[in-house]
This record gives sequence, C-alpha cells and structure tokens, in this order.
Amino acid sequence: MKKITKIFKTPFTEKEVEIGPDAQSDVLIMAIESSCDETACAIVKNGREVLANVVASQIKTHQQFGGVVPEVAAREHMEAINLVIAEAFQQSGLEPNDITAFAATVGPGLVGSLLVGLNAAKALAITHDKPFIGVNHLNAHVCANYIDTDLKPPFVALLVSGGHTQIIKVNSYLEQNIVAETIDDAVGEAYDKVARLIGLPYPGGPNLDKMAKEGNKNAYKLPQARVGENEFSFSGLKTAVLQLCQRLKKELGEVPKVDVAASFQECISETLVKKALNIAESEGIKTLALAGGVAANSEIRRKFFELENKGFKVFAPPMKYCTDNASMVAASAYFLANTMDDLTQEVFSRVK
Ligand code: KG4
Ligand code: ZN
Repeated sequence: MKKITKIFKTPFTEKEVEIGPDAQSDVLIMAIESSCDETACAIVKNGREVLANVVASQIKTHQQFGGVVPEVAAREHMEAINLVIAEAFQQSGLEPNDITAFAATVGPGLVGSLLVGLNAAKALAITHDKPFIGVNHLNAHVCANYIDTDLKPPFVALLVSGGHTQIIKVNSYLEQNIVAETIDDAVGEAYDKVARLIGLPYPGGPNLDKMAKEGNKNAYKLPQARVGENEFSFSGLKTAVLQLCQRLKKELGEVPKVDVAASFQECISETLVKKALNIAESEGIKTLALAGGVAANSEIRRKFFELENKGFKVFAPPMKYCTDNASMVAASAYFLANTMDDLTQEVFSRVK
C-alpha cells in the first residue's frame, strides 16, 4: 500500500523531515490558531496525542460589543501570542528543538488575526530551522476527531461552525470532497443571529444551547428549508423565528424565550442530522464524525450519537477540541490534509 508521508525541507539547512501517519519517527508538531477570537497554541505527538493545549479566549473583550470586532481581535492576538507559545512549551516540558515542525492556520478567518499566528509560526520555523506547515481551518476542525481516537477514513463529516456548514466525504487522510453545503447562513451564524433576536448576549450559540435545555422543543413547529439533497439553507428559519417572536409578543405580551430557543434547536438539529444520515447511507459509509464550533451543541451531539443505534460508528471531539483550538491544527498538519508548506504562504479570508 502507498505510504502516507511527505518530505518537508527545513528553511536553512534544507534537511529532509518526514511527516505523516506512516512516518518512521515520532512527529511533534507545535501549532498556532488565531483565525477568529481565540489565540491558541498546542503541541501534538503523531497527530493524536496532545502534549500541550493552551487557549486564550477573547470572549470577555468582545462581549461589550456584542460580537467579534476584527481590529480589536488582531490586537488581542498580538498581546497573547507569546504567552500562549511559552505556556505550551511549559505544559509539555519540551523545548523548541524537540519540535519536528511548526504549523499555523492560514485561513479562512479574519485576515488581521490570521497574520499574527501565521507570522509567529513562520518565525519559530525559521529561527529553529524546522519545517513550516500552513493549515486550512476547516480541515483542522475535521481533524479534531483524530485526537485521542483511532478514527480512520473513510468517514462522513458534518462540519458546523460560525462561518461554514458542510458535509464532507473524507475518502482518505489526503483526499476529501464536499458533498453538501449551505447556500446562505452557516449554522453557527443562524445560532448567533437567533440568540441576538431573543436577547441573549454574545457568544450567542452556547447561550442559546443552555437556554434551550429549559424549554419545550415541541412548543412551536419551525420550517425546515426545502432545498436540494446537497444543500442547506438557514436564512428562512431565522426569518421564521423573527415572525414567531413578533406574533407571540402581540398575542402574549412577551416571548416565551426558552420555548422558542428549544424549538429552534430542535428544528436545526433535526435538519443537520437527517441530512448527514442520508448522505452516509447513500455513500455506503458507516462512520460519522461531527466537527466545528457548533459540534459543542448538546442537542446536535445527542441526535448525532443516536445514530449509533442505526449501526454507525460515531465520533465527536470533546468540547475543548470543538471550538477553535490549536490541537486540531497540529493534527491537520500531521495528517497532511490540504496543507501548505511554502514559507511565502499568505493568509486568506475565504475559501475560493
Ligand atoms: O468553529 P468555531 O469556534 O469558529 C469558527 O470557525 O467559526 O465556531 C464558532 C461558532 C459560533 O457561531 C458559536 O456561537 C457556535 O460555534 N457555538 C455553538 C455552541 N458552541 C459554540 N452553537 C450552538 N451551541 C453551542 N453549544
Ligand atoms: Zn473554527
């Protein structure tokens, strides 16, 4: 069978370094994630064993604005970056020379934020003469499922984050294709907008999830978009929630927020899990993996794991590896999914 490794060259001495799931020696990757509002650094051994995982969250800063302010985020990353790197070395007891390669998220994300992490990783790679590996943030979310597990392709991944909603068929460590995608809002975006609508503070998703647990999920029937088999759409759902709230306010004088939250969560979780199941069945794949910040959602996880009753092997990262973190970036660099190893690699805000 073909071996899955890649030979990287170090920047100065051009020493060859083998990285990948079939590499001969242990591979220790230090990765940095700074695509949005978390500054994170991690060290992961052989793509699955976390030796250090440090996350500095900016939630408190952005709370006062009700959302992430890109300029402020970039400045906060600058303040935190050296601290998270130092903390990761301390947690692991390792030194820069013990590291096999340095990795960072290249995109998609906020340009100013990405630049901070990318340049820090490049600087480390150059200073210590180690390979640099650029990582795609979406791949990284999927690769979070490799951490502490024996997950192997092929599998179908449901990726739900603040900016993306996709179903991905992961054929091998290196090869994957998107089989379904949203045509408008991402799931996390829908959560954040509906949360704001019912008066919940940033970050909307987790707050709405918490509130939904108190409510009656069958209180209101919300519409599931009628779109193609390979499409999602959530902007109509958001409008339906707005109209429901306006009607309830008029009729009852106030909106029963907990029931609205629970009904919204029921509708969205049903849509997502149903589509993932249909695609896995039609592809004949018996392994499923959940990924992205919204994979932390309690009801989506519950419904997803229920698929075990239908004979599926189901994976979902623990909470700390669902939302943005650097361990998943290190895993992605190791498994070589869509990586970029050019030191001149620039950041990108969107997937082209
Ligand atoms: O993956 P992520 O950390 O950042 C992006 O790459 O976008 O995802 C952030 C998104 C936000 O929209 C946030 O509200 C949502 O994930 N989120 C949740 C939960 N935890 C985070 N949404 C619903 N329920 C949760 N428990
Ligand atoms: Zn993310």
